[in-house]
Amino acid sequence: MPTFPSEKPFLVFGKPAIGEEEIAEVEACLRSGWLGTGPRVAQFERDFATWRGVPPSRVAAVNSCTAALHVSMVAAGIEPGAEVITTPLTFCATVNAILHAGLAPVLADVDPVTQNIDPDAIEAAITPRTRAILPVHFAGRPCAMDRIMAIARKHDLVVIEDCAHAVETEFHGQPAGTFGDFGCFSFYATKNVVTGEGGMILGRDEEHVARARILALHGMSKDAWHRFGDQGYKHYQVVECGFKYNMMDLQAALGLHQLARVEASWMRRRELWERYDQAFADLPMALPAPPDADTRHGYHLYTVMIDAARCGIERDAFLDAMNTAGIGTGVHYLSIPEHPYYQQRFGWRPEQWPHAMQLGRETVSLPLSPAISDADADRVIQDVTRLLHTP
Ligand SMILES: Cc1ncc(COP(=O)(O)O)c(C=O)c1O
Repeated sequence: MPTFPSEKPFLVFGKPAIGEEEIAEVEACLRSGWLGTGPRVAQFERDFATWRGVPPSRVAAVNSCTAALHVSMVAAGIEPGAEVITTPLTFCATVNAILHAGLAPVLADVDPVTQNIDPDAIEAAITPRTRAILPVHFAGRPCAMDRIMAIARKHDLVVIEDCAHAVETEFHGQPAGTFGDFGCFSFYATKNVVTGEGGMILGRDEEHVARARILALHGMSKDAWHRFGDQGYKHYQVVECGFKYNMMDLQAALGLHQLARVEASWMRRRELWERYDQAFADLPMALPAPPDADTRHGYHLYTVMIDAARCGIERDAFLDAMNTAGIGTGVHYLSIPEHPYYQQRFGWRPEQWPHAMQLGRETVSLPLSPAISDADADRVIQDVTRLLHTP
């Protein structure tokens, strides 16, 4: 384990909590002779469907949330060039998936308190070419799905929910990912349920999900397990030009046990969240807004705002100082228009979406993983407190 000037082991941001069950399952998968898409992926799909309260025909496992977003938009049959409204405060994958699907991203600013896309800004961004809304349940906090779905119904728009942070999230008792036409989940190494890389499509319409599943495997009518599995060789047909987005059994081996612990991990993150909330209450930095009534927050990211004027330290200096103290942090996210690619392609400037710009320039995500101990969290608290009190 490397040591840093703090002389303490580096606290990795988003460190996954991997149990002995996952290790044994991965070993069993390796010994089984079947690593690719097969029975463990099928089991993971069934377990995920049960967890979200939908039939298995409404889910399809893929190798990332990016892939899930891409094929969902293709399977939704949105015509090329149509506009998709999304948030500027997201990971680049959200916008890139829109582009990969041959569609045109349109940004609508976030609410500065919830950090989620603002329904009023969505309404203001609608044009005759708008066909879809792609809300992101940022940090695990649900978007205002009642208002977003009302806008979608009024304008006859497809809704694709980016649930990368939101495996456990609920809005008015309903799970995130079940409001729109599609919900797309991530099981990346730092996410709430981990498969290393991985994703899941949850769709309202079984036929759309079936098409997304085919698109995620070259457009082939049968996956490898159904060709080479224990039922004898079966021919397949290529029915459209798809992608190579399938999840492996090796990944699902992790996911099966991660999903079995989803509630316990959520409760641990909530404990850490509350510990931070209490410890930081008197510091001059803004903390995440408390969850709204009748919602369930996914507690994926604990983000604080380092405003140099209030905190006496620049955000980037704060990131460096935390790193020197041996604590890994994250930035979720610099707003999309800060990046040169989008500036050059679309002429976007960060100032056009001022809330996302300001949040992106001040935000810092602190470690919030079920793998960190109380002592780790207390280290984070001590260092943050020290940094904000040092002139
Ligand atoms: C909001 C958001 N959307 C999409 C993605 C893409 O997920 P994946 O890495 O599984 O493709 C991420 C991943 O970090 C994300 O945070």
